[in-house]
Amino acid sequence: MAILRSFIDDLLARTDIVDLIDARVPLKKAGKNYSACCPFHNEKTPSFSVSPDKQFYHCFGCGAHGNAIGFLMEFDRLEFPEAIEELARDHGLEVQYEERSGGQRKQQPKQVANDQYELMNLISKQYRQNLKQHAQGPSAVEYLKKRGLTGETAQKFGIGYAGAEWDNVLQTFGTSEQQQRTLVELGMLIENDNGRRYDRFRDRIMFPIRDRRGRVIGFGGRVLDQGEPKYLNSPETPLFHKGQELYGLYEIKQAHRNIDRVLIVEGYMDVVALAQHGVDYAVASLGTATTPEHLQLLFRQTRHVTCCYDGDKAGRGAAWRALENALPLLRDGWTLDFVFLPDGEDPDTLVQAQGKEAFEQLLAEATPLSKVLFDHLLAEHNAASDAGKSALVAAAKPLLEQLPPGVYFDMMQDQLAQLVGMTQEQLGRHIQQQRQQGNQGQQQKMTMTPVRKAIALLLQQPQLASSVEPQPELAQLDIAGVDLFVDLLVTARNSKAAHAGQLLEHYRQHPAFNALAKLAAISREGVSDENTELEFLDTYSYLIDKYLEQRMEQLLLKEKQGQLTRDERHEYMTLLQALKPKTVSQD
Ligand code: UTP
Ligand code: MN
Repeated sequence: MAILRSFIDDLLARTDIVDLIDARVPLKKAGKNYSACCPFHNEKTPSFSVSPDKQFYHCFGCGAHGNAIGFLMEFDRLEFPEAIEELARDHGLEVQYEERSGGQRKQQPKQVANDQYELMNLISKQYRQNLKQHAQGPSAVEYLKKRGLTGETAQKFGIGYAGAEWDNVLQTFGTSEQQQRTLVELGMLIENDNGRRYDRFRDRIMFPIRDRRGRVIGFGGRVLDQGEPKYLNSPETPLFHKGQELYGLYEIKQAHRNIDRVLIVEGYMDVVALAQHGVDYAVASLGTATTPEHLQLLFRQTRHVTCCYDGDKAGRGAAWRALENALPLLRDGWTLDFVFLPDGEDPDTLVQAQGKEAFEQLLAEATPLSKVLFDHLLAEHNAASDAGKSALVAAAKPLLEQLPPGVYFDMMQDQLAQLVGMTQEQLGRHIQQQRQQGNQGQQQKMTMTPVRKAIALLLQQPQLASSVEPQPELAQLDIAGVDLFVDLLVTARNSKAAHAGQLLEHYRQHPAFNALAKLAAISREGVSDENTELEFLDTYSYLIDKYLEQRMEQLLLKEKQGQLTRDERHEYMTLLQALKPKTVSQD
């Protein structure tokens, strides 16, 4: 359910980015703009600037930039829809969603979703109460104690108990046919082939899985002692997508404002036991491998992720899959490393037996990603023989080529060169680094072409779009970026965007988003609005002239070949008149 575009426009029109940022990072007035030390990188002198005119922020140090929505996403670490909800809440608005294509309004999806979250929340509460009130509650509590958990920890993680009956959830919450169907959809009831419905989770310790905002979206349930399966998890539901969720992430965000390091472990009990012993920065992937979504999610919260796996074959395999998923994502300044645990131990048993210090000592000795990568390759190829060396390079090639440009790539290429005794240059002929895309790290200087200038000016003052006649055919001009410029003109005119922050929002998914943001960040301190308009009109007519010249040439060619239609002949004559002075002087 897509959020209504006009709602986003409206939201940005109501928001003042200066207030929004100032509430989180105190700003100082500096000329027309406001500044502060950048919240996205470490610095002592302020290079972070917020423009009230553009409704846009930009850091000259690290290149961070965006509008109000982008700031919330980066600073509060929210997903796009969450940032929209947050802003809407600030303004006391309900998020508006697109209608179904049939024109029929979607059945208030927000309301349905809210009801589903509420239902999951109530069930979770019931499970917690069962620990005290259910006949089997005492044996569940006994089990938790046997596993070394305190009441405080159980409470922090909302751990509960599902009774052994087949119809606890069914009876308590399935009060109508509609409710029961919802419960099936949420994975809390199972419907068998005869249409009979019953509780999915019975006689299990229940771990609620919460999303990043603390809402219960699913459960993991453990048998009390022996039994299969040991853990039963919620299936995929409208609320729960296990490849995108991490158990314990909400609790970490509750405990820390800034998260230095996150540990990925395998099990629910590992997260809970670690937290109880003060290692309160672990998450568990939910019975799946570590996905690229998981890693991306984590690297939005922290710069250091450590994968903690068993030292056995399965653990090594899991590490390798995580590594492969991570390669294309790695940025400078991020650390991904690995801890392999002694045989037969897991984080739960280790921390309970040896305590926080011993466990953190293991973390301090984590194996860097590059070592895991080369160890894996060296286990299969003998770097001592020539044949082995070239096999090693061939095996490393597809892996290294996935790395974005930056220190990771340089460092690994360097290590590989040493292993096989080649120079960087020799190796470079085998391994092609990805082409630089977007703006990573340092800002590159951008040359100002007329098209870029036109775009930059339009971003400064989107209202300029209405000071020129729409000329859609300009998009055919054979100069890079003109089509984007024409598109921006149309968007600016249709959306009545008042500033860069609003206009840019329409391009969040566009491949040129970063390039546009860079152009928006260009400072024109001291230039009056009138002068900006004049410059824009100049640049615009330059582009129109270019287009007319190009068109003229096309027509001229057709004319020579005797292929002009009546309309084209007319166009040709008109152009000839319009371009006369130039055409004559050029001949
Ligand atoms: P483990 O089998 O390693 O269990 O499963 P554990 O975490 O050590 O659990 P305890 O200590 O015996 O209670 C690790 C994770 O794999 C998933 C669960 O997410 C579990 O936490 N798993 C395991 C399942 O989904 N189903 C299973 O049957 C077993
Ligand atoms: Mn365990």
